Amino acid sequence: MYLNNINLLDLVLVLLSCCCWTGVFGQLSYSISEEVIPGTSVGNIARDLNLALHDLEPRMFQIVTGGKRRHFEVNLKTGVLFVADRIDREGLCAKAAACTVSVEAVIKAPLKLYRVDINILDVNDNYPSFTTKSQNIKIAESTLPETKFLVLSAYDADVGKNDISTYKLSANDHFSLAVNKGDRVSAELILQKPLDRETQPVIRLILTAVDGGTPPKSGTSQLIINVLDVNDNVPTFAKPLYKTSLTENTALGSSVITVAATDKDEGPNAEVTYSLSSKDQDHILDLFQMNEQTGLITVKGNIDYEEHRAFEIRVQATDRGFPPMMSQCKVLIEVGDLNDNVPEITVTTLSSTIKEDVNIGTAIALVSVLDKDGGKNGIVHCSIQNESPFKLETNYKNYYTLVVDRQLDREADLQHNITIMASDEGIPALTSSHDFTVYISDVNDNPPLFSDNHIYVYLKENTPVGTVLKKILANDADIDQNAQVSYSIIETSNKNLPLLTMININSETGDIISLQSFNYEELKTFQFKVQATDSGVPPLSSNVTVNVFILDENDNSPTILAPYSELGSVNSETIPYSAEVGYFVARGGLGQ
Ligand SMILES: *[C@@H]1O[C@H](CO)[C@@H](O)[C@H](O)[C@H]1NC(C)=O
Ligand SMILES: *[C@@H]1O[C@H](CO)[C@@H](O)[C@H](O)[C@H]1NC(C)=O
Repeated sequence: MYLNNINLLDLVLVLLSCCCWTGVFGQLSYSISEEVIPGTSVGNIARDLNLALHDLEPRMFQIVTGGKRRHFEVNLKTGVLFVADRIDREGLCAKAAACTVSVEAVIKAPLKLYRVDINILDVNDNYPSFTTKSQNIKIAESTLPETKFLVLSAYDADVGKNDISTYKLSANDHFSLAVNKGDRVSAELILQKPLDRETQPVIRLILTAVDGGTPPKSGTSQLIINVLDVNDNVPTFAKPLYKTSLTENTALGSSVITVAATDKDEGPNAEVTYSLSSKDQDHILDLFQMNEQTGLITVKGNIDYEEHRAFEIRVQATDRGFPPMMSQCKVLIEVGDLNDNVPEITVTTLSSTIKEDVNIGTAIALVSVLDKDGGKNGIVHCSIQNESPFKLETNYKNYYTLVVDRQLDREADLQHNITIMASDEGIPALTSSHDFTVYISDVNDNPPLFSDNHIYVYLKENTPVGTVLKKILANDADIDQNAQVSYSIIETSNKNLPLLTMININSETGDIISLQSFNYEELKTFQFKVQATDSGVPPLSSNVTVNVFILDENDNSPTILAPYSELGSVNSETIPYSAEVGYFVARGGLGQ
């Protein structure tokens, strides 16, 4: 130690004088690989400095180094400079391309100083290494091929050809590696084939850095490529077509069906909401509601089989990606019928009144029934509920004609109240009825009728002219002008009697009025016919025979009439030749 310090002082002196004495001392240069085992010979320094071996020891030949570690020593017996301690090039020179350790060889008497440069040669004793065991790289799945991604470089403490010379990538389908050889070798991933997160969300690759040593050394790092989702998947319905059925009048809020769609993306790109497509289906939006989260369709309005027998709903699924993606499916809903419609009866009368003499079989009204329900609920049967002279004839399904089934008679029934009943085949059946009235119009089918064939009139003699002998009346069952009766005297039994000067009849009232005063003593009885005629077209008439008897008053003094009969006084009567059976011949006694 002491010696070294002295020598060091000497060396400083020598170095100072060295500038003045340029070229005085020899300069040696050796090369030795790092990491050789201690004792390895670097060179024969004595021989190279032309020093005699036997001088070395007496003249205190020694190697002086500036550093604390003595890497080199000299064997004073052989003059060989050898490695005394482990030499680590990287420790001495780090990444410097050339690594030289300079030492001084000093010999005394006289003092001489030699500079010895020892080039430390690199040995491939370091592995390329990455600062991290793995590198995470995030790449969107939509990234276009040819896009490059820098990867972390590895470090190799060795230099020159022992430094990293290339990178390699494990076999894979998507990436290749571009190695850039510049000052420092670096590598980039190049996307070769499009990524798809949905098939491979994470790709693990091994990046290997290889140095140029012989043999080469290598180090690896794992590349973890996280493929980032892009909204590139449409929500997909489990089925393209859903089918279900529903009974009409289903309660509001009832569940109909649940649709479901899945989206292969992730996060918001895979969050699906449902809606009823609004295009061209306004009525559907009024009747159905979609739970946008669950896909459950519920009833919102009144489902009426008679309005819609089925629904075809377009349902849309939309994800929350940007831009969102959507798809559609169809939901077919068949509506089941309930017997909720009563049959509707429509009656079209051909005329409000019909003549009583109408022919049997004449059609008087058309009847149609309509039941909006389907199936048996819509099959309807029609009948006339009450007794009537009509019947229903069916033409074809649900159409009927009401026809006259037997002879009508206005005088018996002025009108017919008809109730048509319709009932469907539903269980329970629904029925409805329709009432209407058929009025029968008059036909002149009834003559005016007298209550009796004969009328007897008793008239006191000497009644004044203008006396109403009798009011006669004929009744006509018809109405209006068919029942408007006029009276006339048509015939007398005694052609010789001047009837028209004796009596008259008021054609309207039927009053028979005397045109003369009658004298019992001259005319005791007479007879005529009155005809009652209605105003129908053609008119109908009937006759009545009126028998008039003149009653005696005490207006004459008693006289004896000739001729006399043996049996007493007998009135003689003249009986007309044409007298009919029942002709009144005589009346006994006096009476009124
Ligand atoms: C028909 O209906 C009318 C009015 O309701 C009623 O006055 C008439 O008596 C009914 N006729 C028959 C024959 O039932
Ligand atoms: C009524 O009397 C007239 C005259 O005698 C006769 O021509 C007619 O046929 C009679 N009518 C009836 C309905 O008997």
